[in-house]
Amino acid sequence: MVRQRWSHLLFFIVLAGFGLRAFVAPQARFSGHQRHMIGEDPVGRLKVYVYDIPSTFNKKVVQRDMRCLSHMFAVEIHMHLYLLSSSVRTLDPDEADWFYTPIYTNCDLTVTGLPFINNMPRMMRSAINYISTRWPYWNRTDGADHFFVVPHDFGACFHFQESEATARGIYPLLQRATLLQTFGQIGHSCLKNGSVVIPPYVSPRKVFNHTLSVDTPRSIFAYFRGVFHDMNETPNGDRYARGVREAIWENFKDNDLFDISSEHPITYYEDMQRSIFCLCPLGWAPWSPRLVEAVVFGCIPVIIADDIVLPFRDVIPWDDFAVFVPEKEVDNLEDILTSISESEVKKKQRILSDPQIKQTLLFPRQSVPGDGFHQVMNALARKLPHETSIYLKYGQPSALNWSAGNASDFIPWQL
Ligand SMILES: *[C@@H]1O[C@H](CO)[C@@H](O)[C@H](O)[C@H]1NC(C)=O
Ligand SMILES: *[C@@H]1O[C@H](CO)[C@@H](O)[C@H](O)[C@H]1NC(C)=O
Ligand SMILES: *[C@@H]1O[C@H](CO)[C@@H](O)[C@H](O)[C@H]1NC(C)=O
Ligand SMILES: *[C@@H]1O[C@H](CO)[C@@H](O)[C@H](O)[C@H]1NC(C)=O
Ligand SMILES: *[C@@H]1O[C@H](CO)[C@@H](O)[C@H](O)[C@H]1NC(C)=O
Repeated sequence: MVRQRWSHLLFFIVLAGFGLRAFVAPQARFSGHQRHMIGEDPVGRLKVYVYDIPSTFNKKVVQRDMRCLSHMFAVEIHMHLYLLSSSVRTLDPDEADWFYTPIYTNCDLTVTGLPFINNMPRMMRSAINYISTRWPYWNRTDGADHFFVVPHDFGACFHFQESEATARGIYPLLQRATLLQTFGQIGHSCLKNGSVVIPPYVSPRKVFNHTLSVDTPRSIFAYFRGVFHDMNETPNGDRYARGVREAIWENFKDNDLFDISSEHPITYYEDMQRSIFCLCPLGWAPWSPRLVEAVVFGCIPVIIADDIVLPFRDVIPWDDFAVFVPEKEVDNLEDILTSISESEVKKKQRILSDPQIKQTLLFPRQSVPGDGFHQVMNALARKLPHETSIYLKYGQPSALNWSAGNASDFIPWQL
C-alpha cells in the first residue's frame, strides 16, 4: 500500500519537475529570526588577531601532504587562509577580541589518509607553549579569548572511538579556549559549553563540478553510500555506529526503495541529486560530510544520530528541512519515510533549494556573504563582549594543568 503511494509520488515528482520549479521561491519559509542571522556580516562586529607561528605548524605540514587541503577536516586550513585576508583580522593584538592560532592538527596523515591521532595533542601543546611564551595574551586569560579549529571526529578529545575519546577528554590546555568543532552531541564530554559546532569540509569546487541541472528528476527514494561495518570495532567496547549502519544494511539491502551500498561510485554526487532522501546515520561520531553534501545537493537529510548537535543550529533551520529518526527506530525507516506526505517533502525540498542555506555549509576559496566563514565569525561575535571574569587577576596562577597529558605529548612538535 504504502509503497504504491510512493511510486505515484515519484512519478509525480519526475513529471512535475518543470512546473514545480516556477514555485521554488528563493525565499524559503523559515523563521525571520534565523533568516536575519544567516546573512549577517561579521565585519565590524569582532576583531581577530592571527598569531604568526612557525610554518611547521601549518604551511609545511600541508606541503608534505596536500591531501589534507580537501579532506573532511580541511576547515582548519581554509579558516587560516580566510582569516589572513579577512577584514575581521587585526594586526594589533591589543585591540583583538579573539586570538587565533593557525595549527593543522589533522594534516599529519597515515598512508591511508587518516590523521595520526597521537601527534595531535603534541602539536597542540607545542603551539600553545609557543604563543604563551612569546606573547602576553594567553596567560592573561588561560586562553579564554582564544579559539581553535579542532575538526577531528571527537574534536579536541583527539581520538576516533568514543570510549577512548571520552577517556582522554578535552585536552587539558584547551579547557578555557573556545573550540570550533565538527563534533556535536548534547551533553557529551567532548563538547564543551560555549563551543561552536561547524560543518565538515566539502570541496566547493568539487560540488560545483558535479552539479546537475535543477530539474533533474529525483528517481531514487533513499540513498546511502558508505561503510556498514568498521574493522576497528573492539570486541568489548565500541560498536561502529552503535549498530545503526549494520541495521540499515540488514533491513533494507534487498528493498527497492533503498539504494544503499558500501561501494563509492564516481557518480556519488550526481546520485544525491537524483535522490529524495539521503541517509545520514552516525559513524564513529554523529557527524559526517554527508550532512553537508545532502543539503548542497537538495537531498532531504535523514539524520539518524541521537543527540546530535548540528552545525550553526541557531542559524540554519535544520528542523524545517531534515528528517530525524531515532536510532532505535532504524528498523522502521521505510515506514517512517514513506509516511511523510508529498506536500511535506516538497516543502522541505523548497527550503533546501535556497542557495543561502547551502552557502552556510561551505568554505569557498573566495569567501562570499553568508558562507561558513561568516557563520563562524558571527558565532564568535555573538559571544562578545567577554565577561571580565575571564581575565586572571594580577599574580593569580594559571588554572590549567600544564603537567597533565601523555608523556609523548611533551616531545616538542617538529616535522
Ligand atoms: C601515549 O602515547 C603513546 C604514543 O603517542 C601511545 O602509544 C599510548 O597509548 C598513549 N598512552 C595513553 C595512556 O594514552
Ligand atoms: C606564561 O605562563 C607560562 C607558564 O606559567 C610561563 O612559562 C610563560 O613564561 C608565561 N608567558 C609570559 C609571556 O610571561
Ligand atoms: C554555558 O555558557 C553560557 C554562557 O556562555 C551560560 O550562560 C550557561 O549557563 C552555560 N551553561 C552551562 C550548562 O554551564
Ligand atoms: C573541477 O573541474 C576542473 C575542470 O574540469 C578540473 O580542472 C578540477 O580539477 C576539478 N576540481 C575538482 C575539485 O574536482
Ligand atoms: C595535573 O596533571 C598531573 C598529571 O596527570 C596529575 O598528576 C596532577 O594531579 C594534576 N594536577 C592537578 C592540580 O589536577
